[in-house]
Amino acid sequence: ILVTLDFNSAETYVLDDKNGLGRVFDGIGGLSGGGATTRLLVNYDEPYRSQILDYLFKPNFGASLHILKVEIGGDAQTTDGTEPSHMHYEDDENYFRGYEWWLMKEAKKRNPNITLIGLPWAFPGWVGRGKNWPYDFPDITASYVVNWILGAKQYHDLDIQYVGIWNERNFDSNYIKVLRDALDKAALSEVGVIAADGDWSIANSVIIDPLLYDAVKVIGAHYPGTDTVLDALKTQKQLWSSEDYSTFNDEVGGGCWARILNQNYVNGLMTATISWNLIASYYDDLPFGRDGLMTAEEPWSNNYVVESPIWVTAHTTQFAQPGWTYLQTVGHLVRGGSYVALTDRKGNLTVVIETMTHDHSVCIRPPLPAFNVTAQNATFHLKGSFASINELQVWRSQFNFKTMKPVFFEKLRPLKVLDGTFTLQLKEDEVYTITTITTGKKGSYPDPPPSAPFPKVYKDDFNNKNPPFSEAPNFADQTGVFEYYKNLTDPGPHVFTLRQILTQTPITWATDADQTISVIGDYHWQNLTVSCDVFMEKVKTGGVFVAARVDKGGGSVRSARGVFYWVYADGTYKVTNDLGMKVTINTANYTLDYTPSHVVHVLLTLFNAVALTPKNGWAAIGTNSYELAQFDNFAVKAE
Ligand code: GAL
Ligand code: CA
Repeated sequence: ILVTLDFNSAETYVLDDKNGLGRVFDGIGGLSGGGATTRLLVNYDEPYRSQILDYLFKPNFGASLHILKVEIGGDAQTTDGTEPSHMHYEDDENYFRGYEWWLMKEAKKRNPNITLIGLPWAFPGWVGRGKNWPYDFPDITASYVVNWILGAKQYHDLDIQYVGIWNERNFDSNYIKVLRDALDKAALSEVGVIAADGDWSIANSVIIDPLLYDAVKVIGAHYPGTDTVLDALKTQKQLWSSEDYSTFNDEVGGGCWARILNQNYVNGLMTATISWNLIASYYDDLPFGRDGLMTAEEPWSNNYVVESPIWVTAHTTQFAQPGWTYLQTVGHLVRGGSYVALTDRKGNLTVVIETMTHDHSVCIRPPLPAFNVTAQNATFHLKGSFASINELQVWRSQFNFKTMKPVFFEKLRPLKVLDGTFTLQLKEDEVYTITTITTGKKGSYPDPPPSAPFPKVYKDDFNNKNPPFSEAPNFADQTGVFEYYKNLTDPGPHVFTLRQILTQTPITWATDADQTISVIGDYHWQNLTVSCDVFMEKVKTGGVFVAARVDKGGGSVRSARGVFYWVYADGTYKVTNDLGMKVTINTANYTLDYTPSHVVHVLLTLFNAVALTPKNGWAAIGTNSYELAQFDNFAVKAE
């Protein structure tokens, strides 16, 4: 059916600043971490790695993000892996671990005004003095967090603007005040506290507790479904959707993002929205595969995909900056969809309109109540400071779900404003930006190399005198932390190794395994040989493994199954079907080989193991407990 609408049937909307403005816009951002979500990006070759970073952060190019939020690594599993802490042990401090420092610097290189935020998901065990809880010793926790902010400045010249409490876990009012105090004492009074990165319930505490009121700068809620609560409004504080999206980044994901970017303000007066995650750069078969603004999960091929959420983001980010102000005249369109308008208060105006239909804009959570969107004409009247505007730039995205041929972020001819009025013929599933800003640009690079599977033959001797990152390429730690290590006491060929360095269970966010494990390779691998030289530093009771067909990581790592070949410092060995060592298996189908000596060589070959479940999975290395062990000359050969 072809529906023709004449302009007479257009509904009208007024864009006006005469009666004052709305809230100040704080920006749109991406979240690296919670956890290990950018793990594979660091190993992309140039120029691809820089291209990806440009799509994320470069102004007037792609997503042109205003905010980068990162996990303050806490050594524990936080969704897609562990991120290393800057203080593994109480007397340890190192601000060069992991890749978040690098990422923040790359972001800032491209956009010096980017807002940086840190938030812990987990903490090293010593912070809780052995208890799985970070608030019993609030001074310790606060100084641990303050150290991270000071280290960012001292070693990387990064100014962290906001810091959070404990991701999606209980907040503790006393701890928040202690943290505020510790920040002030460290001359970090400019650093704002976001609380509490969960539901809105902290709003009530903020209202009734004046000291807490003073300590909290921003109320941050997660996955708010574009709505807020009365208590949050009553605080008169900035309200943010400090984590949102987490939706598979196909076109429906893009639709989710378009809808919530507008409606988080229209319905919930939230002035910042942050996507979990920034970029899907972790093994696809880990939890929440491809829940990022774009995808870069193949450093071995250098393939990456600029997905629709990048261009949806650009509709706002390239045309309004933090510090701009929303107009009060924002809202829903009569036939469904929404519009927001922002100004720099110097005459510039940006209007973003979305007409995403229900089924094409469902996010992972919360459930989305039914609503209708149909094609419509919308006439906008410019009043107040905007009355004299006579031309506006037009950018459009059409999802085109019927033809499956979407067109994203297309620059149309500028629109002439007649008598302060313009009319748009809106179809379903579109995003428009109408703006006085003329600097918008759809950046592009030549297509990256094609997608390819992880190489079937792979080895790493870790002989890297000056590794750019603490983690070896492609290893994705799922419990424990594996770092490049220089073993100066080694008499022979194992000076440069990979070392598991945790000796204590962290304050966890998910349920980490009791063993440590780092996975690598292709989840589809079935039969293969995996081998490694291992040095158990824990004498007598130490234990390590190499494994194949490991079927789970992330928050499910405890129940990972596979073929695990365990070798112990006391000279014994065994093969189990699971990481938890509950099921021992018969070894007829495997070649096992190991030499009990100072450094043991462990080799596991699966051939023709058809009957064995799981049928496929990653290769892995790890330890029997939170114990020190070194790995060298890791090698896989898959069929
Ligand atoms: C959030 C959490 C993230 C990630 C995400 C997945 O609740 O903060 O770390 O797990 O869920 O949807
Ligand atoms: Ca080596």
